[in-house]
Amino acid sequence: MQLQLKYERQKKIQHHIRNLKRISAVFVFISLTLICSVQARSEGNLSLADGKKTYTHYCSPCHGTKGDGKGFNAKNLDPRPANHTNIKLMSRRTDKELYVAISNGGRFVGKSTLMPPWGGTLNKSQIESLVLYLRKLCKCRGL
Ligand code: HEC
Repeated sequence: MQLQLKYERQKKIQHHIRNLKRISAVFVFISLTLICSVQARSEGNLSLADGKKTYTHYCSPCHGTKGDGKGFNAKNLDPRPANHTNIKLMSRRTDKELYVAISNGGRFVGKSTLMPPWGGTLNKSQIESLVLYLRKLCKCRGL
């Protein structure tokens, strides 16, 4: 009789442990998924925010704070700075072309020498985040 009770109690405990294991596995899975998605999102935001900051600092005097090509310096330039909110113009460029234009300057891509080369001032990830920000300004994708 006592043995039978002991056996049942043991079975119950084993059942509990199995349940606990299952619950903790699910918990670990959910937390990992959450951590990964939060991290991915903050990385995306970070480089976009980074792009905006760099753009405001280095590009807005010519291209304007809104990216419409109407910076305070624009009226002194001929040809005028590109309008980065122009979907027609921007969707004809690949991300790679934008990168090269920013890094090597206007002359390198057969455009105005008034567009300076930034490869010596900005690093790779800064230029990549600028491209990301340009895509936000034009609300478009490249070819
Ligand atoms: C001194 C003024 C000036 C500054 C500062 C400047 N640009 Fe420009 N940018 C120009 C001009 C002018 C053009 C137009 C060139 C043309 O149409 O021939 C241009 C064109 C461009 C183009 C278009 C190239 C194409 O394929 O048509 C991109 C992209 C660009 N600039 C990005 C940037 C970024 C990003 C920055 C900041 C890091 C920046 N520019 C800073 C003057 C400037």
